[in-house]
Amino acid sequence: MTEGLSEEPITERHWRVLETCRRLQHEGRKLILLERAQADELTHLSGLQGLSRTLSQEWPGADIVTWSLEGRGDADFPGILQALSSGFGDVIFAGQHAYELKVSGASLQSRCAQSDRNVWFVSGGGRGVTASCVSRLARMQPDSVFLLAGRSPIVEWPQHLPVMTDIKSLRMALIQDAKARGLKPALPDIDRQAKVLLASAEIRQTLNAIETAGAEAVYLRTDVSDADGLKHAMQDAVAQYGPVTGLIHGAGVLADSLADKKTPEDVQRVFLPKVEGLLSILACLDISRLRHVGLFSSAAAVFGNVGQSDYAMANAWLNAVARELSHQLSDAIVKSFCWGPWEGGMVDDTLAAHFAQRGIQLISLEDGARIFADQILFGEPSETELVIGDEWTS
Ligand SMILES: NC(=O)c1ccc[n+]([C@@H]2O[C@H](COP(=O)([O-])OP(=O)(O)OC[C@H]3O[C@@H](n4cnc5c(N)ncnc54)[C@H](OP(=O)(O)O)[C@@H]3O)[C@@H](O)[C@H]2O)c1
Repeated sequence: MTEGLSEEPITERHWRVLETCRRLQHEGRKLILLERAQADELTHLSGLQGLSRTLSQEWPGADIVTWSLEGRGDADFPGILQALSSGFGDVIFAGQHAYELKVSGASLQSRCAQSDRNVWFVSGGGRGVTASCVSRLARMQPDSVFLLAGRSPIVEWPQHLPVMTDIKSLRMALIQDAKARGLKPALPDIDRQAKVLLASAEIRQTLNAIETAGAEAVYLRTDVSDADGLKHAMQDAVAQYGPVTGLIHGAGVLADSLADKKTPEDVQRVFLPKVEGLLSILACLDISRLRHVGLFSSAAAVFGNVGQSDYAMANAWLNAVARELSHQLSDAIVKSFCWGPWEGGMVDDTLAAHFAQRGIQLISLEDGARIFADQILFGEPSETELVIGDEWTS
């Protein structure tokens, strides 16, 4: 199957590969997914390893592998023939590195303020596990500016409500408050209101933690997959604080369901922040200024994970991007953090119980943040892909 090499837009292309696998698997065929291991445009890279490893778990007995071709198609043909005859698993066919990456933010370069400080752009940095990582980083690099990007608004906590962090108690308090004012609250509205309040409180807490560490923190309310909105926000920030020297991409969402049930909308939901978001971010940065790049990937990309075919592909694509950026930015530390599950963020009680059942330990906020900050500042530059946490099996 060669869809992985096609020129279609990146999200549609991955959906099409998933859909095609689904069709061919029902015909009982061996599936070999071909993808580029290198490319001059990041949109030409794929995350098909994440797909084949997830589908192998969801469809026990299915014969499905990914072959990644390096260079400009001058792949090692004897190697391919050998792989075909011996039934290899996933393979990277080595060739010469033959591409110059074309990513530019030329429009921002001339108008930015100059600064010796590190200026970090952190997608998803206001809350979740990325926020813990950034707070730790701020303690180690207080002479920095942190531009935290997220969609959530910052709102005032209602004066008459006690501050709380548990969503169930907050929902109850909001219902009682509405009733006391003679209103009949709809539960979905209450739930939305509670989530906005908690997200906002978490963002304030992150901003406070960074400021307390002595660094400067700025919240940019922006959706990173909205290329125009992001460009405007970034232009203003770069004009004020100077060029971005550190990129942390933590924005991400889940849309878990088995591959047989996946819809194009699921794939889009997952790809928008992680994949389209990173492309938008890189398009408005001067990447030659980057000294540190940290991409929040997942162990699902490396081992596969039932229900996460789209998420595993998106994260495997991040890993491929990290390899490409690391190759192009020889003076920068570039890391793709393939996290196992954390004790926080998108791992709710149900997911935590699921991992506990499989004997997979959760990464504590403290350990994860420490590993992140050490690696992004002082990690070995040649180690691009880091798998953190227990190894997974199906
Ligand atoms: N937690 C884990 O166990 C785990 C494991 C492996 C990998 N990861 C990765 O780590 C990253 C953070 O995960 P988390 O657990 O902290 O999840 P989370 O608590 O759900 O946080 C997700 C973060 O991404 C932001 N975000 C989502 N869509 C966005 C968009 N379109 N534009 C800007 N920001 C957006 C969210 O902010 P807004 O909602 O305000 O936009 C939030 O800050 C993700 O990329 C995830 O895939 C997490």
